[in-house]
Amino acid sequence: MSVAAKTLDATETETETETETEDSPVRHALRRLSVYLRRNRRYYLIWFFAVVIYSGIFNAIPLTVGWAIDGLIDAEVSAETVVRRCWLLVGLAVVGGALRFFTRQLVFDAAREVEYEIRNDIFDHLQKQPQSFYFKWRTGDLMSRCVNDLNSVRLLLGPGLLSVAQSPILFIGAFVAMSTYSVKLATLMVIPYPLFIVISRVIGARLFRRSLAAQQSLASMSNLVQESIAGIGVVKAYAMERDQADRFAEANDHLRERQIGLVRVSAAMPAMTGLLPAVGLGMVLYAGLPMIATGELKAGALFAFTIYARVLTFPTMMMGYSVSLLQRGASAMQRIDEILSIEPAIADREDSVEIDEIAGEIEFRGLSFAYGDDGRERALSDLSLKVPAGTSLGVVGPVGSGKSTLAALIPRLHEVDAGQLFIDGIDVNQIQLSTLRSAIAMVPQDSFLFSLSLHANIGYGLAPDAPREEIERAAARARLAQDVEDLPHGYDTLVGERGVMLSGGQRQRTALARALAVDPRILILDDTLSSVDAETERQIQAELAAVFAGRTVIVVASRVNSVRELDQIVVLEEGRIAEQGSHDELIAKGGLYARLALEQEEEARREGHTGETLGSDATRAMVGEGV
Ligand SMILES: Nc1ncnc2c1ncn2[C@@H]1O[C@H](COP(=O)(O)OP(=O)(O)O)[C@@H](O)[C@H]1O
Ligand SMILES: [Mg+2]
Repeated sequence: MSVAAKTLDATETETETETETEDSPVRHALRRLSVYLRRNRRYYLIWFFAVVIYSGIFNAIPLTVGWAIDGLIDAEVSAETVVRRCWLLVGLAVVGGALRFFTRQLVFDAAREVEYEIRNDIFDHLQKQPQSFYFKWRTGDLMSRCVNDLNSVRLLLGPGLLSVAQSPILFIGAFVAMSTYSVKLATLMVIPYPLFIVISRVIGARLFRRSLAAQQSLASMSNLVQESIAGIGVVKAYAMERDQADRFAEANDHLRERQIGLVRVSAAMPAMTGLLPAVGLGMVLYAGLPMIATGELKAGALFAFTIYARVLTFPTMMMGYSVSLLQRGASAMQRIDEILSIEPAIADREDSVEIDEIAGEIEFRGLSFAYGDDGRERALSDLSLKVPAGTSLGVVGPVGSGKSTLAALIPRLHEVDAGQLFIDGIDVNQIQLSTLRSAIAMVPQDSFLFSLSLHANIGYGLAPDAPREEIERAAARARLAQDVEDLPHGYDTLVGERGVMLSGGQRQRTALARALAVDPRILILDDTLSSVDAETERQIQAELAAVFAGRTVIVVASRVNSVRELDQIVVLEEGRIAEQGSHDELIAKGGLYARLALEQEEEARREGHTGETLGSDATRAMVGEGV
């Protein structure tokens, strides 16, 4: 929350250098909302005219009732005329009902339309955000803003706006109509209404604060549910169900308290405002009855006033209710605006250059990188390295040495400073994201599978109508084809959320197949085969040799065997290049790489694989010399 608020302020000061007063978050949010309203103004224009006509009919009904009653009392008016007045009443009621339906429909449609547009915009916006955004924001919180808060905004625009805009028109119409009988009585009738402003001011501010608090609690709870479900395996493995339930109960209690607090205030609103017409009517009767006795006023008029008091009760209560809708909607819009105001940290720049095709040369020039700007230790420092187009690079090193970070920088998943990373000699920050990323396929260390069919997961980066053979060819290259035969529905098997139906190795090979299917210029494999057994890895590698030809390839691996055939290899240690060269050179050097190679060979031997890899004896001999 504080992070977002800071960002919000930052964007404001940047975009609006000269505003008279400091812009409050609510006002910023409402200004954003007004853009959507203006875009849909045709709805509101038609609606306005319909409401004016509706108001006329709404107020003509009590007048007609009074008129019919006066006719009944008056001996000079014929019975037929009275009946005709009654028919007029029925006609007015029917037309009024139809208009009421029409105006409501119109406003609710408009509200749905705006809701739809905002939801699309939030989603687009979230998709543009870099990964670092998702390190800060919790999933449940984002979900809650997209669903609950947006719903409150829709209520603001639907019933809220309807009543706030319609009620004054109805009241003015009613005042004019009542004045035709007696200006004095009409004034008495509306005198209590200014109290409404006082009530809504006092209660409104409280409502806003309580809504914001309730919505925050709801977000926390959503987050807890989301995490408990996503991490259900861990929860069960550690038998933490009870603790998790306690934590949930606490969040739920918190939410209930805040919701009840909110309900109390928002229920007080219509209850108090509903009294206003009754007070008005009391005063009208008190002053009006003597006027009938003196003949100054006809009985029908008093009937009409009674009916006005009754028909105005509902709009008045609605107005009270809508104050709470407005406050709730405004605080919800503020929360939505908070997200929409965060400019994506990684986006196309204005000086980005047009490139038709990326050849695939990658160069790091003294690159340093740290996660966040809070003085944390650098994940990579002073890294210089050139990978010519069409060649391959292996990256090995201990856990936490920065291998994954190096891989993720190439498709610009994290922001690097200018002048440090070049693709085809162009600063990566100047290449359009779509060009860059369509040239690169990366299999991240913890690859994500969607809860779709295996087929859809492999073909994720392809056009929807891509031929099936293309997908099957990619699967075969990733050595996934045999496994598919054992799956219940072959390629159409649903893999479950995050691919839970598959083994770790199968998941990794599915992710590999997905990358191979898009035929990228640059292929990045981040420890892709760590869960695949050594034998299968060997088979995949034989297959990959053909796949690698003609592409720039980066293979991050923990096993030396995965990189030994590659054109050049770097060994990372604490974010720096410790060693660099070909497999043979590095072995000859007898350093960290050679030690790793020896360890892994021994391990493989212990497991029964006789390490029939090239020159293993030579390797040992060299390491023996080196150490
Ligand atoms: N998202 C992140 N936020 C902050 N620090 C990170 C993040 N990812 C990795 N790191 C840190 O950066 C360093 C390098 O991590 P990583 O590139 O994942 O190493 P490797 O892939 O070699 O195991 C580690 O110290 C790790 O703690
Ligand atoms: Mg890693």
